[in-house]
Amino acid sequence: MNVLVTGGLGFIGSHTVVELLEKGYDVIIVDNLYNSDIKVKDKITEITKKTPKVYIEDLLNKEAINKIFNENNIDEVIHFAGYKAVGESCKKPLMYYYNNLMSTINLLEVMKEHNVKKFIFSSSATIYGNPGIPKYVEDLGRGITTNPYGTTKSMIEQILEDLYKSDNEWSISLLRYFNPIGAHKSGLIGEKPNGIPNNLMPYILKVASGELEVLNVFGNDYDTPDGTGVRDYIHVVDLAKGHVSSLNKIEKSGSGLYIYNLGSGKGYSVLELVNTFERVNNIKVNYKIVERRPGDLAEYYADASKALNELGWKTEKTLEDMCRDSWNFMKKEIQSI
Ligand code: WQD
Repeated sequence: MNVLVTGGLGFIGSHTVVELLEKGYDVIIVDNLYNSDIKVKDKITEITKKTPKVYIEDLLNKEAINKIFNENNIDEVIHFAGYKAVGESCKKPLMYYYNNLMSTINLLEVMKEHNVKKFIFSSSATIYGNPGIPKYVEDLGRGITTNPYGTTKSMIEQILEDLYKSDNEWSISLLRYFNPIGAHKSGLIGEKPNGIPNNLMPYILKVASGELEVLNVFGNDYDTPDGTGVRDYIHVVDLAKGHVSSLNKIEKSGSGLYIYNLGSGKGYSVLELVNTFERVNNIKVNYKIVERRPGDLAEYYADASKALNELGWKTEKTLEDMCRDSWNFMKKEIQSI
């Protein structure tokens, strides 16, 4: 089967490409390198001994997408490509709405023209908004999102639901990620955010490597066991395997609209993550408690039972694995400079 992976050189995309290649899929990648590196292509080959076809194109260029479909016999699509920085989306909402929505609509229109109707979308737990309870189950439905990035994810889910209602030949899977961290055990691929990271683990890595001086812990006065924010961290390899399981479901069950949380089902606090990282890597992470970050929720994590029951998928890696693999990747990156 030929799978087109948009954003396939990015953090989650590259890990999913590795899993697909290792399961025997043929993979075509399209990526505009906005938040990824062409070197990842060789890293994927080093890991899998296989070479995916790569198109360096922007999904805003509909002709480019059409060319990819004309040149390849694509069976199904996994769509990761999109801007994903919460903070940046608040500063540049128009850029986020235009890019994330138009690139997705372009892709779907070309798929329709080529009668390719198997589609997996990279959604996010952020679409739940603030439901007022910590354990998120899929039928909670979409809430009021708190930033333009999250709103684009919610809007695209709505677009896909409406598309399925208009033509139920489509097989569409909405995968709602919680907090992806970690890296492939080889240390060859991982998360390399540009500039000052927004997310916790990339920030911890830069403090541990000495690139940044101190981790700011955004508040320790939440109603949580140690007062710091609680999130559902999921190893990126487990997340990648969840995409393969979702593809298998679509291939087996045919058309439908499928919605799954992809999370561990467990919540860990900021300080639990910091302490675990220090312990498994035997390294100190300097931190200081500062004010809460506006918009942050105290605690949320996945009800992961639907993915287990319907996909036979659950996370296998531990918080220790996530901390060890993240640091292993960072050390190799530092050595390669
Ligand atoms: C995690 C915890 C912070 C940084 C975001 C997006 C979500 C998804 C994952 C894409 C919180 C605390 C963080 C720091 C800190 N992205 N923290 N100091 O906000 O849960 O989710 O990333 O889909 O859509 O909203 O992730 O890693 O930013 O924060 O104390 O320097 O770490 O307060 O409790 P978040 P995060």
